[in-house]
Amino acid sequence: MLFQTAKNVVIDLTICFCSSTHHSSVCQCNSKPLIWKRLEKDLLLGTSKQTAWLFFALKELKEVDTDEVVITDIKICEDSPSNTTNETWVRRPGGIWLLRAKFTGDEQQYVTEIDILFGSDAVDPRPRWTIIQSPLRLNTKLEGLVAKLTIRRNGPAPAQPCLPLRANEDDKFKIVQFSDTHVVTGVGLCKDASDANGQPLPESEADPFTARLMSEILDVEKPDLVLLTGDQLHHDIADSQSAMFKVFAPMIERQIPYAAVFGNHDDEGTNALSRMAQMALLQKLPFSLAQPGPHEVDGAGNYYLVIYDHTTSSIPVSTLYFLDSHGQIPSNIKDPDYEAIKPTQIEWFTKTSQSLRKKREEQDSHNSPAYHLSLAFWHIPLPEYTDPNLSIIGGQRHEPTEGPSVNSHFYDALVKEGVVAVGCGHDHVNDFCGLLPAKGTTTTGPWLCHSGTCGFGGYCSYGTERYHRRARVWEIDTTTGSLKSWKRVEYVGGRVDEIVLVEKGVVVPPHQ
Ligand SMILES: *[C@@H]1O[C@H](CO)[C@@H](O)[C@H](O)[C@H]1NC(C)=O
Ligand SMILES: *[C@@H]1O[C@H](CO)[C@@H](O)[C@H](O)[C@H]1NC(C)=O
Ligand SMILES: *[C@@H]1O[C@H](CO)[C@@H](O)[C@H](O)[C@H]1NC(C)=O
Repeated sequence: MLFQTAKNVVIDLTICFCSSTHHSSVCQCNSKPLIWKRLEKDLLLGTSKQTAWLFFALKELKEVDTDEVVITDIKICEDSPSNTTNETWVRRPGGIWLLRAKFTGDEQQYVTEIDILFGSDAVDPRPRWTIIQSPLRLNTKLEGLVAKLTIRRNGPAPAQPCLPLRANEDDKFKIVQFSDTHVVTGVGLCKDASDANGQPLPESEADPFTARLMSEILDVEKPDLVLLTGDQLHHDIADSQSAMFKVFAPMIERQIPYAAVFGNHDDEGTNALSRMAQMALLQKLPFSLAQPGPHEVDGAGNYYLVIYDHTTSSIPVSTLYFLDSHGQIPSNIKDPDYEAIKPTQIEWFTKTSQSLRKKREEQDSHNSPAYHLSLAFWHIPLPEYTDPNLSIIGGQRHEPTEGPSVNSHFYDALVKEGVVAVGCGHDHVNDFCGLLPAKGTTTTGPWLCHSGTCGFGGYCSYGTERYHRRARVWEIDTTTGSLKSWKRVEYVGGRVDEIVLVEKGVVVPPHQ
């Protein structure tokens, strides 16, 4: 196996404590004649009178001499592991033991990068990273929010080859849409747990259940693509990175490509990473197709993906648009109120759709695909989801639509560009598809669909009624130009509410 060369090796690390009354930036380690770098996470997550920071010293690989001592292993435990003749374990604060040995030039032996993740259920899905399961011993009452060291040996993993999304031999392309996973730092709390009959269960851990449901759905459906339509993370969590890794791990483990948009909660609160910082982390994860989108367009994550048929054709059979539907805003009109899709986004969508159509037409040849379907995904439903004339099929409205009070008329742009279906999240217990009557001479559509929530950390009830967690599946057939959808629901064996939304590239109205 080819390993990319690491730039640095870790030659030492330690933990230093400071008083939390000092500004965190002044906390430095001056104990040794080394250039210490600080990992920018308080290991105590702001829960103590102290702050604790991991400091590490790096040396450029090309400057490490043979016989110089480097770190070959790290253990977290109370008592010293046993030494051998040529290797000694040295103690550092926090229960850290470093195995230090002389550098032999074989970089696969050495720790080249370190990081910190939080939570008893923390995972590190980055290739070549190994999380040390035994938590740092920091004498805190953080319980489920323990800090764990994660280490990488060798250089960074080579970038994944970016294969085009293509339908399978049977001409089908399947997408699973997970929404509102509401993952936190640590296992979290499931508030609306219910048994198979909808009877309340006591509060339980949330995130391990979410990971299990997602995994079960992925194993049953084996999708070609997974979409996460916002509120991956719950409101104001302590460490966004730890939570994000938990959300995307089930797809990474199964080598399934995925895309994501942000919801109103993802970057809420004082501790959360910004949308752009989350996007940057997401782009570095394997199998991620998420993109920040054009800089001049409002929001983080306005982008599109194209899908091709199963041949080598370079003319897309489907285009998926992703938009940032922003967050909650103060408002005198209603509470909660949300920002509407902005004019720069509508303009970006329209221009992109038109130029992609032009490109398809220019490429047109005798073997070009007969149909092209445009779908769009974001978090917060459009005001049209509240329209009393919406014909609802394939699911239920269990709660009123919670969307922006201002209508920026993105819906009209979708109609004009012939988008056949929209997939939103946000309303956890709405899981329908609805269609508005065509206005004037326009074609019918798009379908306005909800996925329902698959996250155990968010609400899953309305009034006294509790509902089961679920996800929406979309299936495109590239030869018949059809789009089918169904759901996978906790406790239910098969497909739920299977419906045909589009046939021969055209929206199929609900049967009267
Ligand atoms: C290993 O060596 C270190 C450093 O000399 C020492 O602190 C530690 O106690 C030793 N471990 C054992 C099990 O003897
Ligand atoms: C330590 O020394 C022993 C005996 O000299 C040798 O067999 C062994 O490979 C060495 N271990 C390492 C990790 O260098
Ligand atoms: C619903 O449809 C009816 C009859 O077609 C029409 O009169 C009414 O204005 C529509 N309502 C809305 C909110 O569009």
